[in-house]
Amino acid sequence: MQINGLNVLITGGGSGLGAATARKLTDLGARVAILDLPISKGQDVADSLEGGLFVDADVTSADKTAEAINTVCQELGSIQVAVNCAGIATGDRTVGRDNVPADLDQFTRTVTINLIGTYNVIRLAASKMASNEPNENGERGVVINTASVAAFEGQIGQAAYAASKGGVVGLTLTVARDLARHGIRNCTIAPGLFLTPMMEGLPEATRDALASVTPFPQRLGKPEEYADLASHIIENSMLNGEVIRLDGAVRLQPR
Ligand SMILES: NC(=O)c1ccc[n+]([C@@H]2O[C@H](COP(=O)([O-])OP(=O)(O)OC[C@H]3O[C@@H](n4cnc5c(N)ncnc54)[C@H](O)[C@@H]3O)[C@@H](O)[C@H]2O)c1
Repeated sequence: MQINGLNVLITGGGSGLGAATARKLTDLGARVAILDLPISKGQDVADSLEGGLFVDADVTSADKTAEAINTVCQELGSIQVAVNCAGIATGDRTVGRDNVPADLDQFTRTVTINLIGTYNVIRLAASKMASNEPNENGERGVVINTASVAAFEGQIGQAAYAASKGGVVGLTLTVARDLARHGIRNCTIAPGLFLTPMMEGLPEATRDALASVTPFPQRLGKPEEYADLASHIIENSMLNGEVIRLDGAVRLQPR
């Protein structure tokens, strides 16, 4: 799909990878709607974009997310692209100090936001895309999700995060198959270590240590590099049902 003229929904677009993608796609001529929490910087990012729109919703709420996507479709007329960047990173050992079991509520919350929230947006956005007029290649839309390399080699303490991202990897091909009859593609990006507000909070020595385990280039990824891949997925019609690692060949060690 040519990006110029498309309407794009980006969850978690108030920060990090989602905000960089919002800027890139706007520069390429798309109109971007950011869906993020009311406490996020989503409104500020939307205000900084030409034609940008902000809708607040928690991706785990079926009703609020449906309402937000309805608003986007009313304002923009339609959506052709949905990028799922909303997510949280949590850590907890399965059995911790003094043999205390992991907090089950935190596990549930992580899976609910990262996996169920992603699927909630996929199903709602795709149901809107299914009514689009197909383009000359028969395409009605594209969905891009965000997993993590932790889906494949989660580190110590990452059981909840790894499970949530493993779930996103697991649904990628199946959703692509489900949506094929509607002319909608579905792909997932599995980033390595990227310099976003999450990482910017870490001490420089810790960031340097993380960068040094990446074979090449030996640095953290730039959010713009995620945005570049998201743009390419939109443009390349043969990319479908695939999980693409974007990680400088990093393979996370146990700790
Ligand atoms: N930064 C990295 O190194 C990295 C690596 C692998 C995967 N990821 C994944 O990429 C995605 C984006 O990460 P980021 O680094 O840009 O993080 P970030 O914290 O900078 O941005 C995440 C955004 O998601 C929003 N969000 C959180 N919970 C939400 C909810 N329930 N409903 C709606 N919005 C919600 C936040 O408000 C925030 O704006 C996440 O899914 C993350 O797990 C990031």
